[in-house]
Amino acid sequence: MKTTLASPLNSSQTVDFLPLEGTDYVEFYVGNAKQAAHYYMSAFGFQALAYAGPETGVRDRASYAVRQHKLTFVLTTPLRGDNPIADHIYKHGDGVKALSLRVQDATRAWEETTKRGAQSFMEPKRLEDKDGEVVLSGIHTYGDTVHLFVERKNYNGVFMPGYRAWSNPHFQPTDCGLLYVDHCVGNVGWNQMNKWVTFYEEVLGFKNILSFDDEDISTEYSALMSKVMSSGNGFVKFPINEPAEGKKKSQVEEYLDFYNGEGCQHVAMATSDIVRTVTELKKRGVEFLQVPTTYYDTLLDRVGSIDEDLSPLKELGILVDRDNEGYLLQLFTKPVEDRPTLFFEIIQRKGATSFGKGNFKALFEAIEREQEARGNL
Ligand code: FE2
Repeated sequence: MKTTLASPLNSSQTVDFLPLEGTDYVEFYVGNAKQAAHYYMSAFGFQALAYAGPETGVRDRASYAVRQHKLTFVLTTPLRGDNPIADHIYKHGDGVKALSLRVQDATRAWEETTKRGAQSFMEPKRLEDKDGEVVLSGIHTYGDTVHLFVERKNYNGVFMPGYRAWSNPHFQPTDCGLLYVDHCVGNVGWNQMNKWVTFYEEVLGFKNILSFDDEDISTEYSALMSKVMSSGNGFVKFPINEPAEGKKKSQVEEYLDFYNGEGCQHVAMATSDIVRTVTELKKRGVEFLQVPTTYYDTLLDRVGSIDEDLSPLKELGILVDRDNEGYLLQLFTKPVEDRPTLFFEIIQRKGATSFGKGNFKALFEAIEREQEARGNL
């Protein structure tokens, strides 16, 4: 079997029952939200946006929203131990809880998805303050991860009711050029990928636009399989990975072991100038996977001519891949917590709509070197 390109996105004859306007925010459950928020600001160039906690009438948690262009992250921590957020952190460590999706009608989104078999996480809930109203609803997806539907067309406040504006005039790090969420990848268990492909197809109306089997994504030692799911309009993309048999342990299996189940493996953030973005991130201490410099010896033979000079790409370790529509530049951070679980991808698309298949082997060998150093290969 080989990589397969599935049929094109929704044709005009079919009605998209769940029109998604994009990712609204990504919420992380973390052990210390105050410090995590500082990390995303100091290391990734986010700005303080909004805060919710006891001072705003929220009794069981503290949440910090930070923003960079169209990327919004919410860092949430429990204030006491007898709390489902605390249970989540005990089980998984720091990780993604909610991949929140912007919709025009959160009530309808909940009705359409639960009618099609989604398990409800939150019934439609209207939140109001002096700046208007936000309607939230939510459904469960893989593991303990959820999708929230966010309707904010009647809201003019800084983030949402329950939050107050938050800023620090003395600490406003310059941004790193991170623009929006390109895609979010989920790791699921052995033989579970097709179950979740069917879930995204039937419950959310997504299409499977690309598939990679274990021959595409394998090194001498380990393997995984992946299918890319896209919303009807293409604004939201969720690749789903499952481990595959190899001589040694798949990176997906290592994730499942340490996350204690299925969950979000990486969030890809788009930039329009990856050389500048990665230069800034490295300067601020973000650590990236490193491929051998021999990767660059034959790069231009593989991808043809590109606009960028080769030397900064080589110096920063940025990877390049080409598909039928153009090329892309990408780079992956090391895990951003001590467990080998969540990491980030930085991606600049120059026409390409794919995910860097040509880089999988070099990249996964780099991951294996890290796995080996952790004693988990
Ligand atoms: Fe990715």
